[in-house]
Amino acid sequence: MTESMTELMTESTLAPAPATSDNANHHARLHNAPLFEPLALGDLTLAHRVVLAPLTRLRSTQPGDVPNTLNATYYAQRATPGGLLITEATQISLEGKGYPAAPGIYTEEQVEGWRTVTDAVHAKGGYLFAQLWHVGRISHSSLHPEIGLPVSASAIAPAEGKALTAAFQPVDFETPRALTLNELPRIVADYTHAARCAQAAGFDGVELHAANGYLIDQFLEDGVNHRTDAYGGSIENRSRLLLEVIDALIAVWGAGRVGIRLSPWGKFNSMSDSNPLPLFTYVLQQLAVRSIAYAHLVEPRANGGADGNLDASAPDAAASFRKAFPGALISAGGYLGETASQAVSSGHADAIAFGRWFISNPDLPRRLQLGATLNRYDRSTFYGGTEKGYTDYPALDESGAATANE
Ligand SMILES: Cc1cc2nc3c(=O)[nH]c(=O)nc-3n(C[C@H](O)[C@H](O)[C@H](O)COP(=O)(O)O)c2cc1C
Repeated sequence: MTESMTELMTESTLAPAPATSDNANHHARLHNAPLFEPLALGDLTLAHRVVLAPLTRLRSTQPGDVPNTLNATYYAQRATPGGLLITEATQISLEGKGYPAAPGIYTEEQVEGWRTVTDAVHAKGGYLFAQLWHVGRISHSSLHPEIGLPVSASAIAPAEGKALTAAFQPVDFETPRALTLNELPRIVADYTHAARCAQAAGFDGVELHAANGYLIDQFLEDGVNHRTDAYGGSIENRSRLLLEVIDALIAVWGAGRVGIRLSPWGKFNSMSDSNPLPLFTYVLQQLAVRSIAYAHLVEPRANGGADGNLDASAPDAAASFRKAFPGALISAGGYLGETASQAVSSGHADAIAFGRWFISNPDLPRRLQLGATLNRYDRSTFYGGTEKGYTDYPALDESGAATANE
C-alpha cells in the first residue's frame, strides 16, 4: 500500500487521537454504561451498542475479489455475543467495484468465501450485516475493461481526488457515463441478486451503502444529480432509486434485516447538496414508514478532517434526524467511549459505530466497558497488505490488562 493511496481515501486521513489514559478507571466504566444496555434492532436484539463500522481493508483474494480465512479471522476477532458487525463495503457487481481487492458479493466463489466469515462470527455469537456497495463514478475502467466507463446519475467527474486503477495506481477520475432510464431496473436487479447472495452466505442482514458519495448518494444529492427525468430534480425523484433499492432488499430479507448508511452534509468524494436537511428528512421519513432495522448516519464533523481535528461547527446528524427516524439509529464518526455514551444517553443515537479504534482494538467493547487503554492504530496498514495491521493488534489478556501497546 502506497502512501499516496492512503491519502486518496480521505475517510482515513484523520490523525490518530491520543490513546485514552483512563486504564481501569471507575468513572470511565460508569460513564460508558449506556453503551452496554441491550437494544432492539429490527429482528435482532443486540446485547450492547458498540458496533463495528464498515471498513474497507482491500485484502480479498485475487483474482475474483473473494473473502478468505484471514478476513474471517479479522471479523471473528471483533465479534462478541450479541454484538453487531458491519462488513467493509462490498460490491454488488463488477461495474460497482471501485477499489482493487475490495470483496464482492455476486459470484458463487464470493458467497463461499463469505460463508467462512459468517460462520466464524456466528461461532462467537456475533451478528454480521453485509454493506452493499456500488461506487458509481468513483470506479475506473481499468477495474472492468469489459464494461468500460464508470456509471453515475450524471456525466460529471468528481472534482477532487483520484481513482485507483486495478494496479493500485492513483489516476485522474474518468468522466462517468450517465445511466439511462431503462438501465435502472438492472441496477436494482443487481442489488436484489447481491441480497440473495448475502442470504446464501449466511449473513444476518444487509446495509445499503447510500453514504460517502457512492452511486446511491450520487442520485440523492443535487451537486451530482443533474437529471431531468423521474430520477432527477425534486427530492422525491432523487430519492427514487434509493427507495426502489431498499424495497428490493426488503423483498429479499424482510424490513427487520435491512439497514442503510447515509452521510448528510458529507463532502467526501466531492459531494454537495443545495439543501440537505429536507432531502435527508424525506428519505428518513420514507425509511421509517418501511420500518427498516436501522438507519446509520455518518457524522459530518468527521468527514475529510485531514489533520485529525473534528469540525465542531458541523451539524449533528443524529440529533437533526432523530425525529424523522424513530427506529434504531446508529451514529458514526469521531467517537470515543465517553462521547459515545453521551450520544446514547441523550437519546440522539441508539448505538455507536466505531471505525479506526475498532481496527486497532479487536476487543473494543470490552475495553470501553473496562475503561481500559486503547491500542493506537497504524494508518499505513489500513488498505491492502497482509495480517500486519489487520489481525495482529493485541487484545487484553484475561485479567483485563493490555497485553501490549504501540
Ligand atoms: C480504513 C477505513 C475504511 C473505511 N471504509 C468504509 C466503508 O467501506 N464503508 C463506509 O461506509 N465507510 C467506511 N469508512 C468510514 C468509517 O465507517 C467511519 O464512518 C469513519 O472511520 C469515522 O468513524 P471513526 O471516527 O470511528 O473512525 C472507512 C474508514 C476508514 C478509516
